[in-house]
Amino acid sequence: MMKKTVLTGLRPTGNLHLGHYFGAGKNYLKLQEEENPFYLEIADVQALTDHFEDPEMVRKNVLEMTKDLLAIGLDPNKVCFFIQSKIPEIAELTVFYSNLVTVSRLERNPTVKTEIAQKKELFGNQGESITYGFLGYPVSQAADITAFDGEIVPVGDDQLPLLEQCREIVRKFNSIYKETLKEPQPILTKTTRIKGLDGSDKMGKSLGNAIYLVDDASTIQKKVMGAITDPQKIKKDDPANPDICMVYYYHKLVNTEENIQKVCTECKAGTRGCVNCKKELIAAMNEFLKPIQERRKYYDEHPDIVMKILEDGSKEARKKATEQMKKVKQAMQIDYEKN
Ligand code: TRP
Repeated sequence: MMKKTVLTGLRPTGNLHLGHYFGAGKNYLKLQEEENPFYLEIADVQALTDHFEDPEMVRKNVLEMTKDLLAIGLDPNKVCFFIQSKIPEIAELTVFYSNLVTVSRLERNPTVKTEIAQKKELFGNQGESITYGFLGYPVSQAADITAFDGEIVPVGDDQLPLLEQCREIVRKFNSIYKETLKEPQPILTKTTRIKGLDGSDKMGKSLGNAIYLVDDASTIQKKVMGAITDPQKIKKDDPANPDICMVYYYHKLVNTEENIQKVCTECKAGTRGCVNCKKELIAAMNEFLKPIQERRKYYDEHPDIVMKILEDGSKEARKKATEQMKKVKQAMQIDYEKN
């Protein structure tokens, strides 16, 4: 059986937090153990569609994000890490695909629509503030995927409209030119979203409730001590409902089965105070982050190894994209070298 290619991308705009780890990282770790080719794109060009005025930030985070991904245990021998801007074929494909999608279709894309609404809220109601590049990033994302014949795309549910957009472009291309491109399928992680310690529905950088993989013990302590618990529990020995407590929610993510049971039983019985429970969570979280931070330290001390992983991966990825480009140009009858 032919192996299906896995492709995914991340915008290098900040460090990874626990939401990324449980939402996406665990899925990547599982996928790298399967035999499929796996491309992981550090989407610097896409990050610039949003942050073109802040190139230093994007530049810095290409390295930061790669280190975080290596720290969670992704193996460069199993995963091809590459930088989007190192693959000019992606930009080329984006131009070709831009004929296959209408402006109004992009404006109706639910993910883009939400992002535009957020921007308007932030910067006032000027339609002019939306750039051509930003509106077109789903087209460029379709190029990211198809440049490598990506068939399996592990993403969070917020990315589904972008996948659908890609599938539409693929169908249009295949019907106008020649059957050349494959339609990608998303695979969703079981927990696509984890709640914040503050009780909000999502952990996120912009929400200010993120626990980063690089957070040190004192930062973890501060964040966990502020977590929301059952508001009905006033005194230390009041029985409480762990199901509405964020401390218990996080115990379930990072603690052992046995300890989780203990937390639950004692909380319900009123034999566990919240302060103590938080202290145990801090210890469990530090324990959970320890191997990640140890690996991360190694890469911090060896930035040249990280750069080499990105360089080698980008070379390998470029080979694949070049092959794909030949097929695309042939289908579009712009393969002049042939004559
Ligand atoms: N849009 C994705 C995000 O914001 C990142 C991304 C870029 C991506 N290219 C991709 C995801 C290709 C999947 C496939 O997280």
